[in-house]
Amino acid sequence: MTQRVGIITSGGDAPGMNAAIRASAMLVRASGGEIIGFKDGYEGLIENEWERLDMSDVDDIERQGGTILGSARCPEFHERAGRRRAREVLDELEVDGLLVIGGNGSLTGLDKLLNDPDKQIDPPSAIGIPASIDNDLGWTGICIGVDTAMNTIVEACDKIGDTARAFDRTFLVEVMGRECGYLAMTSGIAAGAETVLFPESNANEEQLVDKVVRAAKRAAARQDRPKGALVVKAEGCDVPTDRLKELVDSRLDEELDDAVPDIETRVTVLGHVVRGGRPSAFDRLVASRLANAAVEGLFNGHTDKMTAWLHPHPFPEGVAVQSSIDPYCWLVDLDEVLEETERIRKGESPLTKWRVDVFNQIEDVLAS
Ligand code: F6P
Repeated sequence: MTQRVGIITSGGDAPGMNAAIRASAMLVRASGGEIIGFKDGYEGLIENEWERLDMSDVDDIERQGGTILGSARCPEFHERAGRRRAREVLDELEVDGLLVIGGNGSLTGLDKLLNDPDKQIDPPSAIGIPASIDNDLGWTGICIGVDTAMNTIVEACDKIGDTARAFDRTFLVEVMGRECGYLAMTSGIAAGAETVLFPESNANEEQLVDKVVRAAKRAAARQDRPKGALVVKAEGCDVPTDRLKELVDSRLDEELDDAVPDIETRVTVLGHVVRGGRPSAFDRLVASRLANAAVEGLFNGHTDKMTAWLHPHPFPEGVAVQSSIDPYCWLVDLDEVLEETERIRKGESPLTKWRVDVFNQIEDVLAS
């Protein structure tokens, strides 16, 4: 029976991480166990920095953005020596269950912690909980933080839309997401963007410029409604946003004619604003339920898995089991998660291909 659970948050913070910490702490304590939180992700594991989490520590944290445990990207953990030290610390502290809340880098680190071929000390059972605004993790329908980030982007775009319409300008709004266009695609639709630029389309510089120019000109040619246009661009697109603006401006100058007036463009890079803020109700709920399934999984003897939210495609044979307490949650083999994540990153996942197809089909509809 798992008695002492360690928990870390690692990599880019995501709104809802605190709700996952709180739920984990409450569930472990309710089962008579103890939970300790390591500071600043894998750094805390290596440096033996942690604190016991009591109810007073997690009270009301579900409504806070960021993570109360702190986070870091930890280069030492990429080295075998760093992971060896982490296993020693976990062993000395008699931690027999570990929860890692994070994204691709954090779960890759967990996989290595568990599976270093030369390990002399066995690590505890461990389960990952997917948290990343990028939504780029394999085999989970959604990651903690995505819903809040999407709402933040849509709110920002609504505001930008006011001034875009007032001045009949075209706005290029750059959003985070690393190499994944999910946030740009979903928030682009929700915010009523005229077009969305995302890395999975593999569009080159000229094609991206074409898309923006076409959308801007179609908006500018409208007779009966405002002529401003909103373009949501994922940060992972190959062309930097400032350069895209320059190229678009010069193309618009060249193509200026009587039918289409002078079109002004502006750039807004939302940056880290997208990652912060109070988690939405949905993120708090997803975080709590994924944590619930993870704690239950640990108590039932699972290890080397990630808890996943409902996925649109069926899992390959034998790589996932449904949570015994929540039919929306699954426990998926960590190596399968990481392989599918890599396919998403390279645009080879069926899910990514489906998203690109949908956008190809609706491109003209969006711009109309
Ligand atoms: O992975 C989350 C994320 O916010 C990405 O969207 C972004 O590219 C990256 O982290 C930024 O990382 P940092 O905060 O280290 O600059």
